[in-house]
Parts: sequence; structure tokens; C-alpha cells
Amino acid sequence: MPPRSQNIVYQQHRVSRAKRGQVMGQKGGFRGCTIWFTGLSGAGKTTVAMKLEEFLCSKGIPAYSLDGDNIRHGLNKDLGFSPDDREENIRRIGEVAKLFADAGVVCLVSFISPYRKDRDNARKTHEGSDLEFVEVYVDTPIEECEKRDVKGLYKKARQGIIKGFTGIDSPYEAPERPEVTVKTTKMPVEKCMLEVVSVLQEKGIIP
Ligand code: PPS
Ligand code: ADP
Ligand code: MG
Repeated sequence: MPPRSQNIVYQQHRVSRAKRGQVMGQKGGFRGCTIWFTGLSGAGKTTVAMKLEEFLCSKGIPAYSLDGDNIRHGLNKDLGFSPDDREENIRRIGEVAKLFADAGVVCLVSFISPYRKDRDNARKTHEGSDLEFVEVYVDTPIEECEKRDVKGLYKKARQGIIKGFTGIDSPYEAPERPEVTVKTTKMPVEKCMLEVVSVLQEKGIIP
């Protein structure tokens, strides 16, 4: 989308990354980054991301979850589920996540984010600002998601009450090279969360 505004000049902050690292949390050092969970509805994105948020905060590491269901109640309440709206949804949240990360927070994003191109753009947005972006594929087969049917949405989609439901009559493009893949049918929630933690440790994001 071409920018609508003109004559705007980027304004520099006066606080360095090192300084933000010092003032954020008990575990000094800059840890701002984005952990991006993607997967079908019911895959386990929210469950694992919220568990990780709790884990990181309990260790004194500032973390904050941005969840599709929640953000669509506020910032993105003007957006529906058409391909264009989903693209705009992910574009905005990619930008917001970058701001959280830049502020020194471990930002946890749990949106379906069905299009590879949109996730790759969010990654580029982060990399352009020298911020880590960790893509986590919450890999749960649709049969299992539908069996769970946490919110009763698959049933409605099968009945034709919801149109354009991801995995039923709207596409989901799985990541090709995610940093982490968690298979929620093979491991309990805690283990899935710890798989992500170990990659964050390998990358030096958390001690
Ligand atoms: S997207 O595709 O990234 O823009 O979606 P997201 O912002 O994550 O919102 C997904 C949540 O909205 C509910 N919901 C739907 N999901 C998929 N398709 C359709 N048509 C739809 N309508 C409503 C559902 O609760 C999704 O949350 P999760 O947590 O994935 O189940
Ligand atoms: P999403 O946000 O991807 O739509 P949710 O987190 O809302 O998914 O729902 C996932 C459901 O699957 C929850 O009811 C959760 O308890 C269940 N579940 C079972 N095993 C796991 C697991 N290993 N990881 C995450 N969720 C799991
Ligand atoms: Mg969810």
C-alpha cells in the first residue's frame, strides 16, 4: 500500500538500545524481539503464546501477547476476514510488534496470519530495524483443530454460517522455514512452550 501522507520526516529517539535494556525488567540487556505464532484456528497459538508470556514475565523478562481475537476487538475492529482485510490486519500487527520489540519487550504475536507473503513482510520489517523475528509454526492438522472446535466456529463454517473460514474455504499457507515447529498433537502445552524457550536461549534472547 503506497503511503498516503507526504512531507513526513522520521524522528530519532535519544534512548539507545543499551539504555532500554538497562531499564527494562530485572534481567538487564536488550531483549526486544518478536515471536510470531502462526497456524490454523484451534491449533494452539493463543494457548502456547499466553503460557510463554507468563513464563517470561515470571523470570523478570518483559513480554506481551498481541492476540488476533483481542486486537480485532480494538485496533483492528474495522477489519473483517476478506483476503485484503487479513493482509491489512497482519501489516498493522507487524508494525505494532516491531514497536513493542524496539521498546525492549518480547512481543508474542498469535494471529492465524495465513499468507506467507504477509508474514515475510513482517519479518522484513523487523530485520530492517535489526530486531529478531522468530516464526513459530503451530502445526496442528485441521482434523484435530476441527475436533477441538474450541469456539464452535468450525461447526458454523461447515454449516455455511461463517463464510471464508481458514482451512475450510479460505487458504492457509504453512511456513516453509520457520525457526520452530510445534506439533501440538505430539506434545503437551508445557513442552510446546519449552521448545520455543530453548530456541530463544540458543539465540541469546533469554538467559
Ligand atoms: S488473520 O487471518 O490472521 O487475519 O486472523 P486473526 O486476526 O488471527 O483472527 C482469527 C480469529 O478470528 C476468529 N474468526 C476466524 N478465523 C478464521 N477465519 C474466519 N473466517 C474467522 N472468523 C472469525 C477466530 O476466533 C480466530 O482466532 P483463533 O485464535 O485463530 O481461533
Ligand atoms: P488458536 O489460538 O490457535 O486458535 P487455542 O489456543 O485457542 O488455539 O486452542 C487450542 C486448544 O487446543 C486449547 O483448547 C488447548 O487446551 C488445546 N491443546 C491441546 N494440546 C495442546 C498443545 N500441546 N498446545 C496448545 N494447545 C493445546
Ligand atoms: Mg487464538
